Amino acid sequence: MVTTEVTVSPEDVKASRVAERVPDPCIVVIFGASGDLTKRKLLPALYHLEQAGLLPANFAVVGVARRPLKDEFVNDMRDGIIKGGGVEADDPMLREFLGKVNYHAMNFDDPGGYVRLNSLLETLDRKYGTNGHRLFYLATAPDYFSEIVHQLGAHGMAKSEKGAVRCIIEKPFGHDLQSARRLNDEVNEVLSEDQIFRIDHYLGKETVQNILVFRFANGIFEPIWNRNYIDHVRITAAESIGIEGRGPFYEKAGALRDVVQNHVMELLSFVAMEPPGSFFSAPIRMEKVKVWKAIQPIKMEDTVRGQYGPGIVGGKQVVGYRQEDRVNPQSSTETFAALRLHIENWRWAGVPFYVRAGKRLAERFTDITIQFKQPPTMLFKDNVEASKCGEIQPNIISMRIQPNEGISLRFAAKTPGPSMQSCPVMMDFDYAAAFGVSSANGYERLLLDAMLGDSTLFSHRDGVEATWALMTPILEEWAAHPPTDFPNYAAGSWGPAAAGALLARDGRQWRRQ
Ligand code: BG6
Repeated sequence: MVTTEVTVSPEDVKASRVAERVPDPCIVVIFGASGDLTKRKLLPALYHLEQAGLLPANFAVVGVARRPLKDEFVNDMRDGIIKGGGVEADDPMLREFLGKVNYHAMNFDDPGGYVRLNSLLETLDRKYGTNGHRLFYLATAPDYFSEIVHQLGAHGMAKSEKGAVRCIIEKPFGHDLQSARRLNDEVNEVLSEDQIFRIDHYLGKETVQNILVFRFANGIFEPIWNRNYIDHVRITAAESIGIEGRGPFYEKAGALRDVVQNHVMELLSFVAMEPPGSFFSAPIRMEKVKVWKAIQPIKMEDTVRGQYGPGIVGGKQVVGYRQEDRVNPQSSTETFAALRLHIENWRWAGVPFYVRAGKRLAERFTDITIQFKQPPTMLFKDNVEASKCGEIQPNIISMRIQPNEGISLRFAAKTPGPSMQSCPVMMDFDYAAAFGVSSANGYERLLLDAMLGDSTLFSHRDGVEATWALMTPILEEWAAHPPTDFPNYAAGSWGPAAAGALLARDGRQWRRQ
């Protein structure tokens, strides 16, 4: 109903990107390169950076995996870029880019493989002028993270006299507090903290970064962003997809480990943190960790877990979790988790944060809703009965992280006619409409930042441990008391009834349930 005032044209957006810093020459070495992530996300992201003129001219990629691939690897990457990047097959820039993509087969625990890899990298240094600059990307199964880092150290590849050596480590970073600490210790034996980039691709999403711009670049929101005006906050990370053939991984993970400990906690920290002193890595990290540490230990009655049974998603019949490939037919793994959290600090005392995440829900929908308190007196309440819209609804700010990225504000407006009746209306900002570009896949920004050595949008040791410290007691309790009611929601629904009850007992509700 309300139009967005556009002050930035697509050309402005493009120009501002090109004006950003281009990293030093670099070889990106991806371990676990035969996996889906490389083809679907990483190579398309690198290619987009190339198209935007943001990659250095002296650049190369080396995919590392066990299988003996070579041309197949490059062809596979080509397909991935064409599909994932909306690129024409005969794009000359693509041909040139693929000429810089190499493959190296080795077992991750084979020292000889690292010797050969090192000599390949030195050859590529001479060919491409990359001068010892390396960005290692660990996209393997998590069991190999520590091994690879140690092998890199043992073969003199973790440091370089000539160029910067950095290492991106994929999630999951540990599977509980103890294992996360151990992994941190092991990795820190070889790499200094400023070489390590623990990736959470949610932090690369424009709409997630925009939470900070929305809060701290506008004068009108921050004064009301606290317990005096906000009634509660809801965060939903709903997916309609299932586990996508990742049975063995998901059986060990579950929704709490896979999405809540990282993506959801990152969203929460951006909503709840204090303004950092500056937009640099250390102050932002400090404010985020302060939020996580202020969250009270989570009571079991404030947790809900669920697992999907068969159902209908997007008009198609789908199987239940226990019938998925390589999943235990009696599995207790949760595919849904909801929590009620309390941040015990000056700003948030008494304001509940409800979060939920799940697979095979009714739709893909990641959203943060800030619900405000009602006005102190209801001047128009006598007209409520006559109004076709019923009760006056509280104001909400809804940040749509994906899809249909944008932000809406709900407020009451007078309906036309002689009496003072009102209906809720939405003031809407839509990313694609306002900027003429759709928001990029989070990996572009994060790969670029890692090449530039900027760790602002990456997780740090203290943050990873703080979020695991919150989740681990729940995981332990859940493991000690296996669920008796799984599956407890149908695929295509909004999750188990208990997730609705978690809010209903406080007189609140999820917007979609
Ligand atoms: C990943 C999880 O980290 O995030 C997946 O392992 C999940 O299970 C994915 O599907 C969600 O990411 P996005 O960007 O599609 O919301």
